[in-house]
Amino acid sequence: MYTFKDAYHNQVFLSFEKNPFSKTPRHVWVVCRYENQWLLTNHSKRGLEFPGGKLEGNEVPEEAAVREVFEETGGEVSSLTYIGQYKVVSKGKTIIKNIYFATIGNVIKKEDYMETDGPVMIDELPSGIQQDDAYSFIMKDNVLQYVMKYVKRTFL
Ligand code: GTP
Repeated sequence: MYTFKDAYHNQVFLSFEKNPFSKTPRHVWVVCRYENQWLLTNHSKRGLEFPGGKLEGNEVPEEAAVREVFEETGGEVSSLTYIGQYKVVSKGKTIIKNIYFATIGNVIKKEDYMETDGPVMIDELPSGIQQDDAYSFIMKDNVLQYVMKYVKRTFL
């Protein structure tokens, strides 16, 4: 297990085990790969980030992952693999996210991307991402660094 502080000084716990913090997490985050590029969404307030969000209704996390990727990028998930889980403790409130790696088969052009401005494809994430105002705070803690290492080692 890894532990560190995020960009807001909240404590973060990250693990690549199966469900280390909760069997019923309420959030998901999806590292998306489309035609040898990373597929991000441009959140209208937070900036560039991998898609994700909160489970709705009776969804299981995998259903939420597929839905969020499509809503925020138009990407159709062709394969989805669980990577790990992280927990953020923020002012007495705790959120737990499942992390997935998704291969995207197709990116559909849509009218509406929910609270985002839709898909952004890039070859490489910038090395100075922590200082880059274009990027969301959720891309600025060590979750991204550890997860990208894991993904490159495991899937690329
Ligand atoms: P709402 O009911 O929609 O407000 O969702 P929620 O309360 O279940 O969770 P929300 O997405 O609002 O997240 C609560 C807090 O957790 C945020 O204000 C952030 O500080 C933190 N947080 C959420 N997602 C992430 C993340 O991916 N990384 C980090 N480091 N912090 C996060």
